[in-house]
Amino acid sequence: MNILVINGPNLNLLGERKPDIYGDETLDELMMWLENSTFGRNHNFKFYQSNHEGEIIDVLHDERLWTQGIIINAGAYTHYSYAIRDAIEAINIPTVDVHLSNIIDREDFRKQNVIEDVCIKTFCGKGKIVYLEALQFLEKI
Ligand code: DQA
Repeated sequence: MNILVINGPNLNLLGERKPDIYGDETLDELMMWLENSTFGRNHNFKFYQSNHEGEIIDVLHDERLWTQGIIINAGAYTHYSYAIRDAIEAINIPTVDVHLSNIIDREDFRKQNVIEDVCIKTFCGKGKIVYLEALQFLEKI
């Protein structure tokens, strides 16, 4: 499958950002781990990271004809970006929502997830494993 992986705001700082919550590996290390995993080797990947809502929407639009499945960690946009939510709905490609941390057990504002209803599944709270779970889920659909 052609898999698009999108990481949103502040995820470029993985490795130095709150390692107690997000771990001590960088985003590049996480994405390489996913791509080189036993499951990852069967797929073609495009990886994007952006701190800007509009850029994330542009990537969803621009890659809609290439990608067959999307894994998105929209970071804090998860909690309030109706624009990203609508873009996922508009392109109508199976999308899995992932979070390294357990967004249900943290601050109240993280309990709201405005993109989950347009995603086929959410995985959260297991660190980098959630990206692998998302990939395995996309493989089965
Ligand atoms: C996050 C959780 C979000 O609440 C937060 O804003 C992030 C990262 C996660 O992967 O756990 O930036 O999406």
